[in-house]
Amino acid sequence: MLANIGQLLTLQFSSGKPGPRRGPDLKELGIIEDGVVLCLGGKIVSVGTTEDALRDPWLKRNRKKITEIDCAGKVVLPGFVDSHTHPVFISPRLVDFEERIKGTSYEEIAAAGGGIRSSMEGVRRAGKRVLVERVLAVLRDMAAHGTTTVEAKSGYGLTVESEMKSLEAIREAASQWPGTVIPTLLGAHVVPKEFQGRSQKYVEIVCKEMIPQAAKRKLARFVDVFCDQGAFTAAETEQIFEAAGQHSLSVRAHVGQLSETVLRPLLRFNPASFDHMDHVNEDDIAELARRNTVATLVPGANYFLGLKEYPPARKLIDAGVAVALATDYNPGTSPTVSMPMAMSLACTHMKMSPAEAIAAATINGAWALRIAERKGTIEPGKDADLSVFAVDDYREIPYWFGANRCSMTVVNGVVV
Ligand code: NIG
Ligand code: FE
Repeated sequence: MLANIGQLLTLQFSSGKPGPRRGPDLKELGIIEDGVVLCLGGKIVSVGTTEDALRDPWLKRNRKKITEIDCAGKVVLPGFVDSHTHPVFISPRLVDFEERIKGTSYEEIAAAGGGIRSSMEGVRRAGKRVLVERVLAVLRDMAAHGTTTVEAKSGYGLTVESEMKSLEAIREAASQWPGTVIPTLLGAHVVPKEFQGRSQKYVEIVCKEMIPQAAKRKLARFVDVFCDQGAFTAAETEQIFEAAGQHSLSVRAHVGQLSETVLRPLLRFNPASFDHMDHVNEDDIAELARRNTVATLVPGANYFLGLKEYPPARKLIDAGVAVALATDYNPGTSPTVSMPMAMSLACTHMKMSPAEAIAAATINGAWALRIAERKGTIEPGKDADLSVFAVDDYREIPYWFGANRCSMTVVNGVVV
């Protein structure tokens, strides 16, 4: 039992509206002052004020049997759902980092053979054990920053064998971590150099080999495509989404990061999420506002690439699009495990309020992964995923940027 909670952000909100949080509902945190949360068997069983808890007859009888954690007036919220990460790689990309500082752009570096392609060799050569260790270390680091659910993509192997190896590494690391991991096949991250000028051939491998194998071996829940300039076209993305559907895998895509991606043709595949969304047109915004496809914004990428522009969060939220926040942890554009950092950037550069950033990092992240029935809020019946922050007011979570104020994480009922 977590007791003596100064601010308990339940994110419970009974608007009666099904689906992800949108518009003004995004800032409803369901705060209980002086709160208590009781967890049993990895689930949340009751949530209320200390006063409620003191009156509860079951609690009175069983108090001695329960492990009580005194939160000393701190803030407790649902564990973060980081719905977009690329943890399967070997080395940081320090050359790209320095090149960009000198003024070369991400696209120029990629066109010259740097970028995603330069992470491939390490993954192709690596033994699975090393990859498992890398992923596990990242998961642990994420939990230390308050994250309890992580979507993890493959995407730096780009051969059938090394994409399957990456997904296996995700599965093995996940089995050694108490949190929840949702695996995604990102075989269509970029066209590898051996297929340069023959992207159709590579797309066929993704559709006819990677997707069927990942589905058959239950190595992935989602198929992702980087649908943007220099990566895959909308037509290729449709082809890949079609194959995913045939194998009962849901889809999501990286869109509009470098240039505008036309989203309409992709909507018939009912994607769980469109991610990045730096460049998006008014028509698509209006259409997304009518759907449950979440716009997952990853401001860490804009920050790390040194961009002046950020995704139009205000416009999206005000239009009624469901917005989530994620780290986009990866070696090229966003080497951070910190959801509070992503939230801080959302506040300072995208003008989201601290309350909106918290809902976008929890319940809407859960919607983006289609697991909102068990994640993203603190309410009876949901998984016991909670984070404790050593602050008095929830607004301090995005405020103290660059320092980790997470003092404890409860992951599926396990304290880490
Ligand atoms: O989300 N945009 C594509 N994928 C990553 C970057 C991957 C990389 O540069 O290694 C992203 O930003
Ligand atoms: Fe990404």
